[in-house]
Amino acid sequence: MCGIVGYIGDAEAMPILLDGLRKLEYRGYDSAGIAVLSEGMVSVARRQGKLERLAGEMQANPLLGRVGIGHTCWATHGVPSDTNAHPHADCTGRIVVVHNGIIENYLSLRERLEVDGHVFTSETDTEVLAHLIESRFIGDLYDAVRQSLLEVVGSYAVVVLCRDIPDTLVAARLHSPLILGHGRGEQFVASDVPALLAYTRQVTYLQNGEIAVVTREGARVTRLDGTEIRREPATIAWDAAAAEKGGYKHFMLKEIHEQPAVIAETLRGRMGEDRAHVHLPGLKLSPDELRKITKVLVIACGTAYHAGFVGKYAFESLARVPVEIDVASELRYRTPIVDEHTLALVISQSGETADTLAAMRDAKEHGAHVLAVTNVVGSSVDRDADSILYTYAGPEIAVASTKAYTTQLMTLYQVALYLAEVRGTLDDDARARFIEALQRLPEQMATVLETEPLVKKLAEAFCGVHDTLYLGRGVNFPTALEGALKLKEISYIHAEGYAAGEMKHGPIALITPQCPTVAIAVPGGVYEKMLSNIKEVKARQGHVIAVGATDDPDLRKYADDIIPIPRTAELFTPVLAIVPLQLFSYYCADTLGLDIDQPRNLAKSVTVE
Ligand code: AGP
Repeated sequence: MCGIVGYIGDAEAMPILLDGLRKLEYRGYDSAGIAVLSEGMVSVARRQGKLERLAGEMQANPLLGRVGIGHTCWATHGVPSDTNAHPHADCTGRIVVVHNGIIENYLSLRERLEVDGHVFTSETDTEVLAHLIESRFIGDLYDAVRQSLLEVVGSYAVVVLCRDIPDTLVAARLHSPLILGHGRGEQFVASDVPALLAYTRQVTYLQNGEIAVVTREGARVTRLDGTEIRREPATIAWDAAAAEKGGYKHFMLKEIHEQPAVIAETLRGRMGEDRAHVHLPGLKLSPDELRKITKVLVIACGTAYHAGFVGKYAFESLARVPVEIDVASELRYRTPIVDEHTLALVISQSGETADTLAAMRDAKEHGAHVLAVTNVVGSSVDRDADSILYTYAGPEIAVASTKAYTTQLMTLYQVALYLAEVRGTLDDDARARFIEALQRLPEQMATVLETEPLVKKLAEAFCGVHDTLYLGRGVNFPTALEGALKLKEISYIHAEGYAAGEMKHGPIALITPQCPTVAIAVPGGVYEKMLSNIKEVKARQGHVIAVGATDDPDLRKYADDIIPIPRTAELFTPVLAIVPLQLFSYYCADTLGLDIDQPRNLAKSVTVE
């Protein structure tokens, strides 16, 4: 996730661009850059690191001009560096681009452009756009951009400027947000509202597949096929703080709602153009080396540990490889069996968790190949890993992890499917069915989010309890653990996640009308057993809130409340089942009036033991 801005008007562009990028730093902050056009000359300044580093240099050496574009980056291709920072230019330096999204087919486009003589200077997918537009440009910037985007597979929000067309910006979007801001004699482009509010409240939200020609007088919007679009500008009523949260009350709620988009992002670029195979360019082990792996050792903490726990079920069932899992704070103080045939799977949103880093180093010292799954490019985990897969969740601001968790799950499913293919443990038809089910999860998760009013009512009814029990079996035992953690950490209500089969070994003593039970009872191999556990709870006057399949007639006979989710492969149900539990914990805490984004005693990244 990145933040992009554009300006065309009669004021100096640089201060407006930098101010807009500051308002978008929550979208990414590992490098930044601007380009300004003046008297037939394009000046570009871009730096790795936080925006303030660039702004400081601009203070001393300002770029002058009244048309410009800018970018603050959350790297998805190439480690943060000055050369990988946006904006990116074509061979001549006259066409300059900023982009938010992922160009899935950038390698094939780059190869073709290099054969045609284009010289690339970065590792990014974005630079391909600049050269593609150059290859199409014969004087009409709109048409060159339009034709180029017709060749792009993936997601983009893009703003382009050209030295030869000084009074125009071209902007376009597909699966990444882009908004036009309308001033008097000046126009703005930005990834999100916060960058515009200081200048205008009149905005046009570009829709998927639309492209705009932006001049000082206004914007002309068409589809990529050239069909004209007429749309009345909207008026933004938010204040600045609300705008940064996208109009949501808390970052946590915004990030819960971002999940369909970001889990779709984790699929882009890894499912190949044929959608029949998983491609993991970040995994540096050859198929032969992967076949020699005798064990996967999961290293993680907290929510990341719960993701790794779901991964255990996926790896063992699909790839038939043994998986050992332990919280990093335990793993580092025992002596696990690790050697060169161990794949150490390190999962960490921040990439800075002290226990995870320590256990990772131990595993590496004993010869393991470290595959890291992280959300922060350039983090310590990223730097020390042998292989790296990013989760593309964008910055996760709320302390309680939500979108990082579900994008970790998506990434782990992809690794498991890839391992299964390499190790020959899953036939082509089965793999195709799993991939098809994976591709449907983003839209199914959007459906789950429609249960929000129901979940809010349940939370309002139950937020006064002191104890809750979360029960799950099989791949949803980790879901019970994660749901309980969410409730604990933001509503401060005691919640125990338990394997439902363990009820008779103790927890059943807890059941009273004052201790509600949340049960994940989705169709699959342990469904009947979950129904039995629900009956056990009911027989002791316990109240049961069940997460189950939308069309399940049996569950309604036993559970007091049902939160419905769409059917999918049992292995993938954790991706959907966790969303109602995230919402339940959010609305319990909100009803209690607690500080949801910064819960007491907690930090977003536990960088100390
Ligand atoms: C989850 O909501 C918590 N914020 C916490 O358990 C977190 O998952 C844990 O500290 C691990 O963080 P990491 O993924 O950044 O390593």
